[in-house]
Amino acid sequence: MININNVTKTYGSGIKAVDGLTLEIRKGEIFGFLGPNGAGKTTTIKMVTGILPPDEGTILINGYDISKDPINAKMEIGFVSDDPNVFERLKGLEYLNFMADIYKVPAEGRRERILELAEEFDMKNALDDKIQSYSHGMKQKIVVMGVLIHDPDVWILDEPLSGLDPKSSFTLKKIMRDHADKGNTVMFSTHVLEVAEKVCDRIAVINKGKILFVGTLAQMKGSLKTDTSLEKMFLEMTDDE
Ligand SMILES: Nc1ncnc2c1ncn2[C@@H]1O[C@H](COP(=O)(O)OP(=O)(O)OP(=O)(O)O)[C@@H](O)[C@H]1O
Ligand SMILES: [Mg+2]
Repeated sequence: MININNVTKTYGSGIKAVDGLTLEIRKGEIFGFLGPNGAGKTTTIKMVTGILPPDEGTILINGYDISKDPINAKMEIGFVSDDPNVFERLKGLEYLNFMADIYKVPAEGRRERILELAEEFDMKNALDDKIQSYSHGMKQKIVVMGVLIHDPDVWILDEPLSGLDPKSSFTLKKIMRDHADKGNTVMFSTHVLEVAEKVCDRIAVINKGKILFVGTLAQMKGSLKTDTSLEKMFLEMTDDE
């Protein structure tokens, strides 16, 4: 569960990237975070994961305050950033073991888990290569595997599907669904409206740092009183004019 209460962030340039944002992301749901470029999605995600401190407001991860109790809060989180260029000089296997160490995954069963994931994501032959040699999609996969290795309750993913091929994208969507169905929390941002439509239990639409809508797609359709595609609704909501 993620509780975002009245969170605001202004960058040095004076732009309010996130403006009084309040959201509750519940256990058991896949929550989609939608908005055009520059809407404030990544800024919100960086605050939720403790990378950026908010100027105002509070964020709780399963009850732990990310500012006051960062270690406990972060132990609950698996984060896939929009930039998969991490620890480039490590080999895939070293990275996975490093993630497992940081998150205190017991040594027992670790190898099996890694091989299982490598199989699922078609990465078996790449584990002994350095991450810097990987393609964009492979880098993304190793980061996702790094999250799955410690299997935290709350998953936060910033555009996780961009760059993944259809098979890996399918695998990741299935894994997200299974994770949520076990009573965990999954939040991800996307531009791909079809993905949001197919995968998410609830969505939020954000523009210029403010929430325009939160709810199910059915509720969104109801609120606009027109039976239209998510794409049309999205364009209508985020249109400046
Ligand atoms: N480090 C920074 N310094 C100044 N302004 C920034 C910085 N990072 C982001 N911004 C601005 O904050 C706003 C929100 O950016 P953010 O990256 O959160 O958007 P986003 O919704 O993730 O967009 P995208 O879909 O392109 O990833 C934008 O206007 C952006 O230009
Ligand atoms: Mg972004």
